[in-house]
Amino acid sequence: MELDLKGRVVVVTGAARGIGRGIVDRFLAEGARVAALDLSFDDRPGEEASDRLIEVACDVTDAASVAAAVEAVRSRFGRVDVLVNNAGITVDAPFEQIAPERFRAVMDVNVTGTFLMARAVAPIMKEQRSGRILNAASFAAIVPAYGGAAYAASKAAVVQLTRVLAGELGPWGVTVNCYAPGMVPTGINGFAELAPEAQERLLDTLTLRRWEEPDDIARLLVFLASDAASYLTGALIDVSGGKLATQIPAKAYEAAQGLHPRFA
Ligand SMILES: NC(=O)c1ccc[n+]([C@@H]2O[C@H](COP(=O)([O-])OP(=O)(O)OC[C@H]3O[C@@H](n4cnc5c(N)ncnc54)[C@H](O)[C@@H]3O)[C@@H](O)[C@H]2O)c1
Repeated sequence: MELDLKGRVVVVTGAARGIGRGIVDRFLAEGARVAALDLSFDDRPGEEASDRLIEVACDVTDAASVAAAVEAVRSRFGRVDVLVNNAGITVDAPFEQIAPERFRAVMDVNVTGTFLMARAVAPIMKEQRSGRILNAASFAAIVPAYGGAAYAASKAAVVQLTRVLAGELGPWGVTVNCYAPGMVPTGINGFAELAPEAQERLLDTLTLRRWEEPDDIARLLVFLASDAASYLTGALIDVSGGKLATQIPAKAYEAAQGLHPRFA
C-alpha cells in the first residue's frame, strides 16, 4: 500500500511551531505542496526555502484573514486537497478563575477558527469533488483534565463539528476526521519545563510510556490524507499513546520490571 501524496496541496494552520511545524515538515517530506498558516512567522526568518512551501500570515478567528489566506493558497497552488486545522490555544485554570474573555478566546481559535477555515476551503473541495479536512481535537475531548473547562469544552465541540461537516460534505467526496493527541511537550503546555517528578506523574498515564512527538501525529495525518483512508469519515482517532487506555498504565511497567508487589 502506497501513501502517495506527491503534488497534493496541504494547508496547515498554526504551522509556525510545535505540532503544526512537524506536520508541515512531514507533508513536505512526502512530496506534498504545503501552505503553512499562522499569526506570524517573525521568529522564523528565511525559513521558506522550498518551492513547495508558502508561509501565509493568517488569524483563523478572522473571516477576512482566512479568506485572503485561502485565496493566496489557491493563486499559488491552484487547489486545496487537505486542510489541517491544527491552530489551537488553551487556558489552564480552575473554571472560576478563567476570565470570560479568555474562555471566549479559546472557543474562538479552537472552534470558530476550525469552522471558518473549513467554510473557506469547502467550495474549492466541492468543485474538485475531493478533499480532506483534518481537525485537531485532543485527548481532553475524551477525558477532560482539571483546569480544562475552556479547552476540553472547545475540543469536544471540534469533535461534534467534525461529524456535522463530514455529513454535509460527504456527497462531494470530501471526508472530515479529527484526531486526539495526548501529550506532546510544546509551548501550549510547558511539559518540558516541569520538575522531573511532575513529568514522571504525567508519563505514568501513558500506555506507551514516552512523550508524543509531532511526527507521531503527522504520520497519522499522512495516512488520513492519502487514498488509503478514502472510506474513513466523521471519526475521532485517538493518537495519544494509549493515554488511560487502562486505569493505571504504570502498573504494566512496574510488572514488566519486576517491581510490582503482586506480579513480581
Ligand atoms: N501539545 C499537546 O500535547 C496537544 C495535545 C492535544 C492536542 N493538541 C492540539 O494540537 C494543536 C497544536 O498544538 P501545539 O502543542 O503545537 O501548540 P503550540 O502552542 O506549540 O502551537 C499552536 C500554534 O497555533 C498558532 N495560533 C494560535 N492562535 C492562532 C490564530 N488565531 N490563528 C492562527 N494560528 C494561531 C500559534 O501561533 C502557534 O504557532 C492544538 O490544536 C492543540 O490543542 C496539542
